[in-house]
Amino acid sequence: AAPIGVAVLGLGNVGSEVVRIVREHARDLESRIGAPLVLRGIAVRRIEGDRGVPADLLTTDADSLVARDDVDVVVEVIGGIEVPRKLILAALNSGKSVVTANKALLADYTGELAEAAEKEGADLYFEAAVAGAIPVIRPLTQSLAGDRVNKVAGIVNGTTNFILSAMDETGADYADTLAEAGRLGYAEADPTADVEGFDAAAKAAILASIAFHTRVTAADVYREGISKITSADLEAAKSLDCTVKLLSICERLTDEAGEERISARVYPALVPLEHPLASVNGAFNAVVVEAEAAGRLMFYGQGAGGAPTASAVMGDLVMAARNKVHGGRGPRESKYADLAIAPIGDI
Ligand code: HSE
Repeated sequence: AAPIGVAVLGLGNVGSEVVRIVREHARDLESRIGAPLVLRGIAVRRIEGDRGVPADLLTTDADSLVARDDVDVVVEVIGGIEVPRKLILAALNSGKSVVTANKALLADYTGELAEAAEKEGADLYFEAAVAGAIPVIRPLTQSLAGDRVNKVAGIVNGTTNFILSAMDETGADYADTLAEAGRLGYAEADPTADVEGFDAAAKAAILASIAFHTRVTAADVYREGISKITSADLEAAKSLDCTVKLLSICERLTDEAGEERISARVYPALVPLEHPLASVNGAFNAVVVEAEAAGRLMFYGQGAGGAPTASAVMGDLVMAARNKVHGGRGPRESKYADLAIAPIGDI
């Protein structure tokens, strides 16, 4: 079959791993897809030094790269909101499929992006946006599509889990641990998004939206970060046979009037040591899903970092490319239920 042209937007921790995998595993990927994947270009902010990729692939003109006729799938790993939003819309509006890891963008614009994808029959995949390498978007949108999900809860920010685990295990200093998380490629460009819970809240919004087939944005999510947690808090937790974890909790609730509502919240919680989430340490993430027929499921693995996140991007890229070759399409948008957000403490 004709090659599938790929544009990669961004060459940071995740983008470089995606490019490496596409180049090093070209033959395996071709056999899985049924056509070769060909990198048409990589958009970067500045072309400088040796970026470890053929220089002729690099461009600072992302708009022209996305508009190229020989680009079929656009992989967005730049981060930020307005720039990627415009590029993704341009791609979807011209029928190109999009793979993105951009949780902040999806948390607020999934509706707009999904509608553009739907209109043009394009795919919009975002497994990498929540919990890095861990498959959680696909299980919720596909495997559990016939079940009724009542709760999704877990640890979805690697940086804060890395910090809390280190503080708990070794009494390590908050600032040093945060710097280490940055060096390891876990933290956001501005780690405030991690430590103040914005990143976890964006992921909660995405999880709540797909789990409950409704629209939840980051602003709907109650949010508290970990910047006020001290080693004394962790000591106190220990004396109660607990630890402290930054949890993202999304659940379906019924209020006193019998109305169904959604609660989505992020806060540092006391987790009893015997709870499975208590032993999720370092940059690992874990998500527990409760569904009516399936019962309780738990997903665990590396939730941050270039390679684990690239694994999820690659899975989506293979799916989008296969659909281009074989004419299929990924999960369609649900017809959304209009569920109100439950204020914390209301129910
Ligand atoms: N900064 C994020 C985290 C990266 O620490 O989990 C993965 O989304």
